[in-house]
Amino acid sequence: MTAETAEAPATSPFERVGGHVAMRRITDRFYDLMDQDPAYADLRAIHGADLSDMRAQLPSFLAGWAGGPRDWFEANPGKCMMSAHGGSPITPETAGQWADAMTRAIADVEVADREIAAAMADVLSRMARGMARG
Ligand code: HEM
Repeated sequence: MTAETAEAPATSPFERVGGHVAMRRITDRFYDLMDQDPAYADLRAIHGADLSDMRAQLPSFLAGWAGGPRDWFEANPGKCMMSAHGGSPITPETAGQWADAMTRAIADVEVADREIAAAMADVLSRMARGMARG
């Protein structure tokens, strides 16, 4: 391996999936599904009436989480997404609804790289299911 190859910057999942545009599409589809599909009624019910703050925060979180710009992490120093959900009544059923809606959202929208998008859906689903108690 040449020094040049070793120093080549790795492409992050954030870039591969399509950057901020893809994170925005995924987020909007996710909250539209949560808001409109009765299959996610229990999940919708534990959220506040107004989802606009969630729609603003999730793309920024996803960007940093996937190796892109870290604005959300810099604005929320030390905040752990798993612990941040400790106060929410998350059951295996509602966690499953979150995972299902996110998997559908990612499958529904246009992304630059379908394989990395599917890997994101898988890992996010595992995180969501890991938040459940009971
Ligand atoms: C990987 C999984 C998840 C991610 C990335 C995520 C992301 C977020 C974000 C960015 C917020 C905004 C507020 C904050 O920063 O605390 C939030 C709040 C919230 N999340 Fe999640 N979430 C996940 C899983 C879940 C699951 C499984 C549930 C319930 C089953 C859930 C329910 C909620 C609720 C109830 C709030 C507060 C909403 C409100 O105040 O209206 N989240 N989540």
